[in-house]
Amino acid sequence: MKCSKCGGMAVINLRQHRLRLCADHFVEWFATMTQRTIDTYSMFTPTDKVLVAVSGGKDSLSLWDVLLELGYQAQGLYIGLGIDEKIGYSDQSLDMCRRFLADRHPGAVLHVVDVTSEYGQTIPALARTRRRGLGKPCAVCGLVKRHIMNRVARDGGFAAIATGHNLDDEAAVLMQNTLHWQTGYLARQAPVLEERDGLARKVKPFVRIYEREAAAYALVCGIEYIYDECPFAKGSTTNFYKDLLNQLELNSPGAKQQFYLQFLRVRDSGQIALADAEKAEMHPCRRCGQPTTAGELCAFCRLWE
Ligand code: AMP
Ligand code: FES
Ligand code: ZN
Ligand code: ZN
Repeated sequence: MKCSKCGGMAVINLRQHRLRLCADHFVEWFATMTQRTIDTYSMFTPTDKVLVAVSGGKDSLSLWDVLLELGYQAQGLYIGLGIDEKIGYSDQSLDMCRRFLADRHPGAVLHVVDVTSEYGQTIPALARTRRRGLGKPCAVCGLVKRHIMNRVARDGGFAAIATGHNLDDEAAVLMQNTLHWQTGYLARQAPVLEERDGLARKVKPFVRIYEREAAAYALVCGIEYIYDECPFAKGSTTNFYKDLLNQLELNSPGAKQQFYLQFLRVRDSGQIALADAEKAEMHPCRRCGQPTTAGELCAFCRLWE
């Protein structure tokens, strides 16, 4: 297999783009693709401080790497969730983030927030005592992560929070939302969520990057990452839809991309608009000051009651 650009040995076949690339040209293509997404959606500029939420996985570490390589002021945020499940999941993830820094970007800044030492309980322990999520910690975990990301972004004066969500993640969520015609969720599923009422801006620079491309980038650049996904994500509906979409992709390369990017075009043309109920007023939580649509206390503060 030969590189479409230089004729050298190709390391990856990007069927949906009809491109085969060698290691150097793939890294170059990957950075260009990310830059183009940042520009298309006016995500941030080189003078902005960006907070990259890093989980120790391939997507977020590749994202942090490519942003630094592109010259952005990208600092990392790792949230220790206290998930062990016999594989030391959280400890290993933090280890990967630290190794990434030491090996690739010793000058970069990593913020670490440990849920257990700050709030006194691990996520799985907290989830066992709450009705939210019915024993599965994912809902509680998502809520806690969003709260902490927002707090760190706000306190540190960051222009945006960047997450490693890739095209496979977004297409799977889109499929789920479409099959259930969740119009509110559809309206909010965007590469950029603007800042509002004290909620920091959120951006997803990898919405055009396939999961296997983020993995290939990490591999080619020698970035070590945690291969295990969160033990609680096994058998999740998102993974089910990802498998379905991959079957589709196998028969028709580009189907996944077409499905998601076409949705964005329809969305951006204003054909999917926020229902009034989705624009609910927000007010600051009495305890933490973060915006909430609920009562006096936000959902995060009520968790620890
Ligand atoms: P997930 O929901 O696990 O697919 O993760 C989606 C994105 O959230 C990742 O790409 C990261 O940007 C971010 N993220 C997930 N877990 C963490 C964590 N423990 N600390 C910081 N960011 C995280
Ligand atoms: Fe939070 Fe899995 S439960 S990452
Ligand atoms: Zn080449
Ligand atoms: Zn609160």
